[in-house]
Amino acid sequence: MKVYAEMNTPLRTIMTPGPVEVDPRVLRAMSNPILGQFDPAFTQMMNDTMEMLRELFQTKNQWAFPVDGTSRSGIEAVLTSVLEPGDKVLIPIYGRFGHLLTEIAERNEAEVHIIECKWGEVFDQQVIIDEMKRVKPKVLAIVHGETSTGCMQPIDEIGPACREQDVLCIVDAVASIGGTDLKVDEWQLDAVIGGTQKNLSVPSGMAPITYNDRIEKLISVRKKVERGVATEHDQVHVQHPIRSNYFDLTQLQDYWGPRRLNHHTEATSMIYALREGLRILLQEGLQERFARHRYHEKALMEGLKAMGLDLFNDVAWKLPMVTCINIPLGIDGESVRKMMLDQFGIEIASSFGPLQGKIWRIGTMGYSCRKENILFVLSALEAVLIRHGARIQIGKGLQAALDVYESATFEKKGRSY
Ligand SMILES: Cc1ncc(COP(=O)(O)O)c(C=O)c1O
Repeated sequence: MKVYAEMNTPLRTIMTPGPVEVDPRVLRAMSNPILGQFDPAFTQMMNDTMEMLRELFQTKNQWAFPVDGTSRSGIEAVLTSVLEPGDKVLIPIYGRFGHLLTEIAERNEAEVHIIECKWGEVFDQQVIIDEMKRVKPKVLAIVHGETSTGCMQPIDEIGPACREQDVLCIVDAVASIGGTDLKVDEWQLDAVIGGTQKNLSVPSGMAPITYNDRIEKLISVRKKVERGVATEHDQVHVQHPIRSNYFDLTQLQDYWGPRRLNHHTEATSMIYALREGLRILLQEGLQERFARHRYHEKALMEGLKAMGLDLFNDVAWKLPMVTCINIPLGIDGESVRKMMLDQFGIEIASSFGPLQGKIWRIGTMGYSCRKENILFVLSALEAVLIRHGARIQIGKGLQAALDVYESATFEKKGRSY
């Protein structure tokens, strides 16, 4: 019989745009004993989680809960519940994850209209608003923070324009939620999908979502309760039911709402993790966490620039938690990443599509976004680039980052980040 060794994961410094290092308090929370999914001790945790998600999303929406599955499960749940075959959807694409929205909408047989801009750029909001007037879609689906390019699309005028034109505004905020401001109610966003494995510093495996009563009203018409749990008051025959059972938001509502109608078996350990991740985040403070991300971003950017590296996304629309570097000419980007991992245990990311092999992406998200990590990644990158023969300014990077840290007056609350 083959005997497998006890699991012994290597220690890593994870500086990718997700997954990132999980806060040790979250890992500790996950090791709590399992509770039954209808145990009042557990349903109380579910309620706490919903309450804290409303704060995270800056919303008064009744519905704010996680979908079990990675972030795309939240996107799929919202789009599958909202879209019917032939519905018009407008999707502005400025990176990989706009294509993911398109892919999911197409699989739901929607009539998908896209507009595209170059990876590394974002849209003028008016361009999107004008295109909406032309296409007259039922749904506008858009990515807020594009992890693939490190860019952030302004959407504060798009939500109100959608409301005016009676279009539903659905936003992928997987990379931005908990990292930078996202005001669901103020920006009039109808449904928003977040991620756990990035700025929340919780493992991958859940997708927190929120949606308002405009979405609830629309999906309630297609509500069909599973026969095995339905009562005589439930609809079991519906002409065009939501096509997925697992991703049917109306059934998820009945499980997360006061009815507690059985649907899937809840991933209890993941709820522990999410609840703890949210508790830590709110204890730090939303605005304080956003400021921390900007603070370390500045030190990282100054360090990289002083090293003589050229930043791909040093632009006004930069996503604060993702810094992208143009790989210097003649340098093998994958060899650099491999050496960072092999020699220093640091993981940085490459990118996709037209940017594959052209940029490195460094994430500074959640628990990974700490001074020691920034200084470590800068020193390791310098050493590795020297060994690859890159022409860089030796000794300048760390000093520039230290200058930022020594001159800044960033107030740390509680824990030292
Ligand atoms: C902006 C964005 N949307 C969607 C996804 C898909 O998330 P997941 O891989 O967790 O399904 C990601 C993952 O990195 C992302 O960055």
